[in-house]
Amino acid sequence: RWVFVVAPTYRRVTQRLDLTRLFNTFALSANVHMIVVEDSVNRTAKVERVLNESTLLHWSHRHVKTSAGLHVKGSEQRNEGIWAIRHIVFNETDADLRKAYEDGVAYFADDDNAYDVRILDELRKVRNVGTWPVGLSGQRIAERCEVNATTGKITGYSAWNELRAYPIDTAGFGLHVRHFLQDPPVLFNPQSKTCGLEGDFLKQTNVSKYDIEPLADNCTKVYTWHVGTDIKWAGKRPPSDFDAEFDI
Ligand code: UGA
Repeated sequence: RWVFVVAPTYRRVTQRLDLTRLFNTFALSANVHMIVVEDSVNRTAKVERVLNESTLLHWSHRHVKTSAGLHVKGSEQRNEGIWAIRHIVFNETDADLRKAYEDGVAYFADDDNAYDVRILDELRKVRNVGTWPVGLSGQRIAERCEVNATTGKITGYSAWNELRAYPIDTAGFGLHVRHFLQDPPVLFNPQSKTCGLEGDFLKQTNVSKYDIEPLADNCTKVYTWHVGTDIKWAGKRPPSDFDAEFDI
């Protein structure tokens, strides 16, 4: 089953480190299309190179600069990724492949998280909207849903700000591609507050937070983590000689 992975990224000292780790994991599985969306005025040669040097078989490279005044990281880039998914599906001329794409699943992978390749097994189980734990997220060992083992239904969430409409981190859900092929597609709202980002997005699927599919063994297994790559460097803009000699 095809998995479309949308990864926003931006220029910083740890960018190649994070992208290398990200691409290495998602290149381990067949039928993955990686959509990298740079937060920049142009696509950069650096990200193009990291993509070319990776063993990813299917990838798209796009860009959109975050609009002035908007603080939600990655929203406009994820939306650009959603338009890319539509483009890939609607322009596919091979009927069988197009059908396979139409039954695909989408995942929004922040470029600085770590991923166990088994996240792809969970993604491929998603029928509508599915969720799994995210390690070291929201000041917790893991943010996750609680499941009634008898009914297999979600009964609650153990997460930062549990009063959120959907207390789920971006890395903690995947959804069927049909949500992006309809008109209008489900989109992120770049005006959403940080605490409402995922909820504003997920409520458009019309799946309640209790009807989301609990995956990863009833949300008991962690296959993705927030990392915060190197606290000394994370998010720092590169020094002025950054591109000169070292391809760090
Ligand atoms: C947390 C959540 O994990 C994110 O999913 C959420 O978007 C974010 O909060 C938020 O709403 O503020 P956090 O670690 O704070 O994540 O954010 P980052 O991982 O630094 O950024 C999320 C994504 O946006 C990354 O893929 C990053 O490369 C991208 N980003 C970040 C940009 O494209 N531009 C930026 O200026 C910053």
